[in-house]
Amino acid sequence: MSFKDTVTVITGIASGMGLQIALDLLEKGGKVAGIDISDCPKELQEASSDSNLMYFKIDLTDIVAVEGAVKEVIAKFHKIDNLANVAGVLWFEKDKSLLDIDLDVWDQVMKINLKSMVHTIRSIVPHMKSNGGGSIVNFSTIQAIRGDRAPQDAYSASKGAVLSLTKSVAMQWGCEGIRCNTILPGPVYTPLQKRWDDTPEIVEAISNHLPIGRIGVAKDLSNACLFLFSKESSFITGIDMPVDGGLSICC
Ligand SMILES: NC(=O)c1ccc[n+]([C@@H]2O[C@H](COP(=O)([O-])OP(=O)(O)OC[C@H]3O[C@@H](n4cnc5c(N)ncnc54)[C@H](O)[C@@H]3O)[C@@H](O)[C@H]2O)c1
Repeated sequence: MSFKDTVTVITGIASGMGLQIALDLLEKGGKVAGIDISDCPKELQEASSDSNLMYFKIDLTDIVAVEGAVKEVIAKFHKIDNLANVAGVLWFEKDKSLLDIDLDVWDQVMKINLKSMVHTIRSIVPHMKSNGGGSIVNFSTIQAIRGDRAPQDAYSASKGAVLSLTKSVAMQWGCEGIRCNTILPGPVYTPLQKRWDDTPEIVEAISNHLPIGRIGVAKDLSNACLFLFSKESSFITGIDMPVDGGLSICC
C-alpha cells in the first residue's frame, strides 16, 4: 500500500491508535495533520518534520477551531485524501447506567465521541469532493454491536450512532468518490485502558476468552485503518469492520 504524498487528518493523534496510524503513514511517505486536546507526543515529533506534520492542539468539540485547522491544512498541503476520526473517551468512573449518569456527562461524551465526527466530516467533505474523493474511517467499538454488561450508556449510545453516521456519509457521497467505513476495535492495550496495568489477571482472562488468544495492540488497528484508506479497499464502503481478535463471535 502506497501513501506517498497523501494527506491524512487524524483526530486523537496524541495517543494509542491515532498515534500509531500517524507513525505508520509518516513512515510510508504520507503527510499528516493531527488534532488532539493534548500536546504533541515526543515520539511523533521525532518521526516527523515541518514538511510532513501539522499539529493542532485543540478541542474537537469546538467547531470553529476544527474549521480553522482544516483551512490551515488546505493552505499548506492543498488537499485532504483521508480522515481518521479516532478520538474518543470512555470515562469508567463517570459513565454509568442512564438511571444514574450525570446528564452533563452524557452530553459531553456525545459531543466528544459523536459530534466531533460531524465537525471534522463537514469541514473536510467539501475538500474531498473538489479533490475527486477520499476515505473516511470512524472509530466505534465492538460493544456497539454486542452490548456491554457494565453499563456505560453514554459511551455505548455514542459509539452505536457512529455506525449509522458512517452509513449515511457513505450513501450521500459514494458517487463522488468518498468512502466511509467504521472500525470496531475489541480490547486493545492503549493509554485508554491504563487500568489494566494493575490487573494482569484481567488481561489474562480477556486474552483467554478471545479466539485469537491475545489482547490487541494499536498496530492491529492501524493496519486495518491503512487498508481502508488504500486503493486496495476501493470497493468497500459503509461497513462495520470488527478488529477484535474474534470477540464478536464469542458468546
Ligand atoms: N483501547 C480500547 O480497548 C478500545 C476499544 C474499543 C474502542 N476504542 C476506541 O478507539 C478509539 C481510540 O482509542 P485509544 O485506545 O487509542 O484511546 P486513547 O485514550 O489512547 O486516545 C484517545 C485520544 O483522543 C484525545 N481526545 C479525547 N478527547 C478529545 C477532545 N475533546 N478533543 C481532541 N482530542 C481528544 C485524547 O487526548 C487522546 O489522545 C477511541 O474512539 C476509543 O473509544 C478503544
